Amino acid sequence: MITRTGDDSYTLFSEQYEQTYHSSFGAVNESLHVFMRGSGIEQRLRSGKASRVLEIGFGLGLNCLLCANSAENNKATLTYYGIEHRPISPTTYTKLHYRDLLDHPYLADNMVDAFSMAESISTGATSPHSIEQATIRVDLGHHTHLSLCIADAASEPLAEHLNNLQAFDAIFLDAFSPDHNPECWTLAFFKQLANLLTADGRLATYCVKGSVRRNLASAGFELHKYPGPEGKREVLWACKQRE
Ligand SMILES: C[S@@+](CC[C@H](N)C(=O)[O-])C[C@H]1O[C@@H](n2cnc3c(N)ncnc32)[C@H](O)[C@@H]1O
Repeated sequence: MITRTGDDSYTLFSEQYEQTYHSSFGAVNESLHVFMRGSGIEQRLRSGKASRVLEIGFGLGLNCLLCANSAENNKATLTYYGIEHRPISPTTYTKLHYRDLLDHPYLADNMVDAFSMAESISTGATSPHSIEQATIRVDLGHHTHLSLCIADAASEPLAEHLNNLQAFDAIFLDAFSPDHNPECWTLAFFKQLANLLTADGRLATYCVKGSVRRNLASAGFELHKYPGPEGKREVLWACKQRE
């Protein structure tokens, strides 16, 4: 079910997870505040630096589109790697009207291709035999290359695949809450994420639950809590502890 949020942008309510994909106070506000700014990626793109982002829980593609919009505005190269196990259909995606939020609506139009290819994988119309084959590659604009991987973020084959990639400047940890997606908030999972981050990279998330903070710290992250967007007292970003 599609719902309008506090800043007039749309999100989806997941019947399966009994949660909305974004804050009901404002999907765009949350994305800009927690992920774009919290991760430092907005700043990097603004200064024209080529940047690599890994997103756990690609969802509706909103975080990706807002990053791509910034990359396009700043003519900065963005390599975006999204992980999603249950992609939404291109029809649902189109109904969210994300093109209306962007300075460059073609970014949202090009995303339809990614969701169409993702649908053929998730419905079994095409059956990938490897993570490589389950990865959809689309140029969203002149500056953003999207790799959308249809896989369980916590699976062993995906971990092996990601380990062979260049490290990321930012990780957006945006799975549903730990009660609903426990596999994306474990100590073992965070240790893998720490290995994928550059020395000065940042992981950003909306979740400040005690068990999550403890697991992040045990996995070698240094935590920085700060005031959240409307409706959320605190959120956090984390970098690797200095040795
Ligand atoms: C809060 S939504 C993400 C919203 C998204 N970042 C956006 O900007 O639209 C969480 C997403 O994580 C995905 N997810 C949950 N557990 C997962 C897992 N183990 N592997 C891959 N994706 C997962 C869900 O299917 C859902 O699409």
